[in-house]
Amino acid sequence: MFAEKLILRIPGPTPIPPRVQQAMNRPMIGHRSGQFSALFAKVAERLKPYFGTRQDVYILAGSGTSALEMSVVNTVGAGDEVAVLVSGAFGERFAKICERYDIVAHRLNVPWGEAVTADLLSAFLDEHPNVKAVFATYCETSTGVQNPVKELAAVVRAKTDALFIVDAVSCLGAVPCEMDAWGIDIVVTGSQKAFMLPTGLAFLAASERAWNVIENRKPLAFYLDLKAYRKSLAEQTTPYTPAVSLIFGLEEVCNMLEEEGLANIIKRHELMRDMTRAAMTALGIPLMTSDEYGAPTVTSLDPKGAFDSEELRKTLRTKHNVIVAGGQQHLKGKIFRIGHMGFCDPLDVITVVSAIEMSLAQIGVDVPLGEGVKKAQEVLIHHV
Ligand SMILES: Cc1ncc(COP(=O)(O)O)c(C=O)c1O
Repeated sequence: MFAEKLILRIPGPTPIPPRVQQAMNRPMIGHRSGQFSALFAKVAERLKPYFGTRQDVYILAGSGTSALEMSVVNTVGAGDEVAVLVSGAFGERFAKICERYDIVAHRLNVPWGEAVTADLLSAFLDEHPNVKAVFATYCETSTGVQNPVKELAAVVRAKTDALFIVDAVSCLGAVPCEMDAWGIDIVVTGSQKAFMLPTGLAFLAASERAWNVIENRKPLAFYLDLKAYRKSLAEQTTPYTPAVSLIFGLEEVCNMLEEEGLANIIKRHELMRDMTRAAMTALGIPLMTSDEYGAPTVTSLDPKGAFDSEELRKTLRTKHNVIVAGGQQHLKGKIFRIGHMGFCDPLDVITVVSAIEMSLAQIGVDVPLGEGVKKAQEVLIHHV
């Protein structure tokens, strides 16, 4: 098998488009040069449509978690109460970050595979009227749930003065996000998912309401001090050494995203979700999420013991050079997850479905070969 033809279908890091890879190979330039500043200011501006904001987008060197932590340490402090909507591993991460700083995190837990609904949040806020912030996950990558953040934002706005802070690491750039119009205060994301880059950049945008809070607080961390990033961005730069090569790549990503257009990108991801869900259903593999809340970027499957997910993943990897993700935490070894975001198109979905069918047959599962592919094809041809 060709190592270069590894078919990476995990929910991040995602494959890098060749032209983005090439852009990152450019020779290094001085990070305090006019050349870098011009590039940096432009890409920061070009990210705004994916957040749906007129506010500035801050770019820092760090994985997605650094931006999650940034959103915490600049807005709340020890002893403050916050609500954390936990629908899986990444909601739980937000709660753990808060607790590391002695912030009182009230968890609204829903079973993994389910979404946090507006009604649940409304009742939860009645129980916890003093929260200063509400933390939510847009796409919960560990389960493939897309939480209804637009409706959740409306509840927060209607019921409290709390900031509404959203982790959109595994979906921004692939799904609608209207931060300003929906009333979200902070949106954070990372580079290695729908933005088709390696890990290493994190992005954050904050509303005016959020800035009113941030400007009047002493942040709990040094590197993640948002005020420092704001001051630097006004001078078209970053407070600390930026990841210059990734910024070269980001410029090319912006070119690609603009060439396709956000509306088409969103449609492509919805199509890939629908193809994947239809194919897996045709193969009799239970989906972990309902149609209403299934994410356009990642689909989780729970064979419920009908076959061994890890044996399937091993066969996909060793016989077909296809990588899909396993489960996290208590779902480790039980479920598998197919990433379909970023540099991924409908024919890539057909490929992964076909590889899953073959691998299932190879591990002795009585699978109707071709049925999943057929369903995915039908969804595709009815779409175009
Ligand atoms: C929804 C979500 N939030 C946060 C993270 C953490 O990002 P990172 O691993 O880049 O720190 C991830 C990573 O998979 C994620 O999917």
